[in-house]
Amino acid sequence: MSNVMALSDKHALSVERLTVAFPHGDQVMLALDGATFEVKRGEFVCVVGASGSGKSTLLNVLAGLDRPSGGRAHVHGRVALIFQESALLPWLTAAGNVELALELRGVKASARQKVAHELLNRVHLAGFERRRPHELSGGMKQRAALARALAQEADVLLMDEPFAALDAISRDLLHEELERIWTESHLTILFVTHNAREAVRLGDRVIVLTSRPGRVAHEVPIDLPRPRSLDSPELAVIAGRITDRLKHEMSNGR
Ligand SMILES: Nc1ncnc2c1ncn2[C@@H]1O[C@H](COP(=O)(O)OP(=O)(O)O)[C@@H](O)[C@H]1O
Ligand SMILES: [Mg+2]
Repeated sequence: MSNVMALSDKHALSVERLTVAFPHGDQVMLALDGATFEVKRGEFVCVVGASGSGKSTLLNVLAGLDRPSGGRAHVHGRVALIFQESALLPWLTAAGNVELALELRGVKASARQKVAHELLNRVHLAGFERRRPHELSGGMKQRAALARALAQEADVLLMDEPFAALDAISRDLLHEELERIWTESHLTILFVTHNAREAVRLGDRVIVLTSRPGRVAHEVPIDLPRPRSLDSPELAVIAGRITDRLKHEMSNGR
């Protein structure tokens, strides 16, 4: 019993021989096939894999949206999920979206407006509280989605290619923003991307998935000091090796 307690103290999430199968015509297709890894509390881990390697499926299982066909996936604590599309409710303002998350968490009506303002301020959206999603840029929408995730007081943030649709400058700024928020908080982050540079920019560790079906091919600890620059030669070398590995996995997968 004490062993179990110690484990859950240290780990924010664990994935053990996780297999997920989907029906495919009259057969089944494996999206994940025996993926195993753990993430420690407070760790920032990136998962890279080619398109179709089961990255979204992995996050969906961790968020409780998909069911494992075999093995286990477990998150200790509350999760928030951020997608490539911000998934803000279009009829609510930025503040309204954050306030709704606060309401669902049981925050009193009298406190919601102030807390939403503080959270939007934290992601540098002060002054944009009354805008609706279609009046915000792509980067601003992802900032608002981040504020909403913070409103959920999650322990673990699951991020599914959240910045893939952004221009390079907005993405750079959001990398800084996310890193700052992670440093200030006790959040654990599992960040999925197909971009090796982005993974090395952000992660304490990068998990490389095999292609179709997904399994852990490789784990790379990233010891470069923070904050890192996407353009630094040191980062490029590590990202280059990971990209080679991904290409190798892709050629095996077809
Ligand atoms: N709900 C679903 N039903 C059937 N097949 C699915 C479903 N979700 C994902 N898949 C399939 O599982 C594989 C992995 O998908 P996904 O997890 O979205 O990969 P990634 O996010 O890495 O691109 C793909 O071949 C995809 O078509
Ligand atoms: Mg995906």
